[in-house]
Amino acid sequence: MTKPWSPTAFAQQVIDYYHAFGRKHLPWQNTQDPYKIWLSEIMLQQTQVTTVIPYFERFIDSFPSLIDLAQASDDQVMQHWSGLGYYSRARNLHKAARIIKTVHAGQFPQEPKVIETLPGIGRSTAGAIASFAFGQATAILDGNVKRVLARCYAIEGWPGNGKVLKALWERAEANTPKQETAAYNQAMMDLGAVICTRSKPDCQSCPLSRHCLAYHNDSIEQYPGKKPKKARPSKSVYWLINISDANDQAKVMLHKRPPSGIWGGLWALPEVQQQDMSPENIQQLEAFVHKFSHYDLKVQPLLLQSANEKALVEKNSHPSIMEPAQADWFSQSQLNEIGLPTPVSKLLSKLLENA
Ligand code: ADE
Repeated sequence: MTKPWSPTAFAQQVIDYYHAFGRKHLPWQNTQDPYKIWLSEIMLQQTQVTTVIPYFERFIDSFPSLIDLAQASDDQVMQHWSGLGYYSRARNLHKAARIIKTVHAGQFPQEPKVIETLPGIGRSTAGAIASFAFGQATAILDGNVKRVLARCYAIEGWPGNGKVLKALWERAEANTPKQETAAYNQAMMDLGAVICTRSKPDCQSCPLSRHCLAYHNDSIEQYPGKKPKKARPSKSVYWLINISDANDQAKVMLHKRPPSGIWGGLWALPEVQQQDMSPENIQQLEAFVHKFSHYDLKVQPLLLQSANEKALVEKNSHPSIMEPAQADWFSQSQLNEIGLPTPVSKLLSKLLENA
C-alpha cells in the first residue's frame, strides 16, 4: 500500500521538476504581459506548442497589443487564425479584447472571477492567466492536469461528470502552492503533456511516480475514467417483400432510396417504420438486426400476399412509404447488376432461391 502524496511534497516535486526540465523559453514566457499570456493560453487550448509558436508570433507582429486586437476587423483576426482550427476561439478572443477595451478601460482584469467572465475563458484558463501574468496563487485544471491528478490520487470516474470534476478541482486547489505558483502550473501542464501522457506514460521519468496510486496499483490506463457509452440507438422497420410470379419468372419490387441518408441512391426493399403500421394477415419472416456505426437497424421482413399487395406496395397506397424516386420489378439475374445494400441482397437471394 502506497501513501498518496501530501500536497506540499507533491508541489515541491513539481516545482523541482520545473527548475530541472520545465519549458522556460517559449515566446509567451519571460513576460508578464497578460495579453500575450492570454493569447498563448487560448491558442494552446486545443493545439500543441510546436504548432502554436509561428501562429503566436505572426499574431503578435500584426496585433502587438490588446488595443490593436480590439481595433482589428473580424477578417483580419480570422486570417491570422486560419489553419489553427476551433475558430470560435478566435471569435471569442476578439470579442473579449473589445470588452476589455470598453468595459475594463483597456486594462486586463486581474481577479480570476472577473477574468472568467470574458468570452472563451473558463476557470482553468483564468487560473493560468492570473498565475502567469499577475503572480496569483490560482489553481489550473486543464485536460493534462486532470490526467496527472486522477492517476496520482486514483480519482475514479469520467471528468465530464460533475462530482468527478469537483473532486479533481478540490485536489488541484489543495495541491497548488502559495509560492512559485506559476512555475508549479507550468510544470503541471508540461508533466501532463510530456510524461503523464494518455497512452504509454513515461512513469520511469516521472517525479510523481513514487507515490502515484495508479502507478503502484498498475492501473494507469483506468485513469481518467472514460465517458460512459450511451446505449446504442435503434430504429425498427418493416421491409415489404412483394414477389410476382408472372410469366414463371420471380421478380421482386424494389424502390430506389433517396439520394441522401443510408444507402442513398441504392435499390432496396420498400421500408415502413414499425410504429406506422401493424402487420395483420401478413407473413412475418425471420427478423434480424443490421448494425451501422451509430445505430442498429432492426428489420422485420414481411412477405406480402397478393391480397395485400395492392394495398401496401402500390405507389402512394400507404402514407408511410415514402414515394420512391423510382420503383421497379427485378428478377434474380437483374439484381446482380444493380447496387443493393448487403442485407437486402442476402435476404433476397435466400428468398428467390426458394421462389
Ligand atoms: N497548454 C495550455 N497552456 C500551456 C502552457 N502554458 N504551456 C504548455 N502547454 C500549455
